[in-house]
Amino acid sequence: MDFENIIVEQENGLAKIIINRPKKLNALNKATIQELHSAFDALETDEKVKVIVLIGSGEKAFVAGADIAEFAHFSEKEGASLAKKGQEILFDFVENLATPVIAAINGFALGGGLELAMACHFRIASDNAKMGLPEVSLGVIPGYGGTQRLPQLVGKGKAMEMIMTAGMITAEEAKQFGLVNYVVTLEELMPLAEKLAGKIIRNSSIAISAAIVAINAGFVDGVNGYKIEINAFGNSFSTADFKEGTTAFLEKRKPKFLGS
Ligand code: COA
Repeated sequence: MDFENIIVEQENGLAKIIINRPKKLNALNKATIQELHSAFDALETDEKVKVIVLIGSGEKAFVAGADIAEFAHFSEKEGASLAKKGQEILFDFVENLATPVIAAINGFALGGGLELAMACHFRIASDNAKMGLPEVSLGVIPGYGGTQRLPQLVGKGKAMEMIMTAGMITAEEAKQFGLVNYVVTLEELMPLAEKLAGKIIRNSSIAISAAIVAINAGFVDGVNGYKIEINAFGNSFSTADFKEGTTAFLEKRKPKFLGS
């Protein structure tokens, strides 16, 4: 896969997507959003890929936000369309990806950067990371799902505070609030992502995809997540992985999952 603004690497079931605009602190312009969509789309259908890790290039930023220079002169209509298209092709797309996505937050994750990390299935951070939704300091509000996903992760009150003050929190604070699962040094960040990916890769990928659907269903208005879980649980019984997993347990051996 050849891209201008991102790098994609793949090895042993793990794909890494590196957002690569370090001079602009990896800010998300339109082209980068489109490339990220194409990369996630291609990796999701690649049977060899079991986990995706998303990280920013360099030592300073994961993503410092949507590219302010690109939308500064937008009209009301263009603003709405920017948010709608971005949510569709990247943020909602990643959240609902069948392949697990881990955000490795290696520095600033601001605005669209934090929104992208929050769209990933879970997050880890390096101790230099700073996170926030500073949009109101620019006269806008978060437009890539931040007003919805931040309260889901940290609670309504903390989300209100973070969005209203436009302030940044440290990686340790983010861990305390449930926004990230682990905080390590920058050097330890990718090894930790690889270690977590390794634990995921051992399991049934078809069961993991079904679990993602069921977990996400609980956060969709008007959808009964428990019903979705019952259906997905039932469907599992028809998979080869279910037979393999249960047989391997009874035979006291490690399962060899096929992901089907
Ligand atoms: N959009 C476009 N360009 C951005 C950007 C963004 N969100 N964030 C950083 N950049 C660019 C800067 O304009 C600068 O480009 P230049 O060298 O051509 O002038 C370059 O990245 C480096 O950023 P700089 O501000 O010089 O780095 P810093 O270390 O002084 O400050 C930040 C780092 C993250 C505090 C600061 O860049 C910042 O506040 N960025 C915007 C964050 C934001 O509001 N994001 C939400 C957008 S909705």
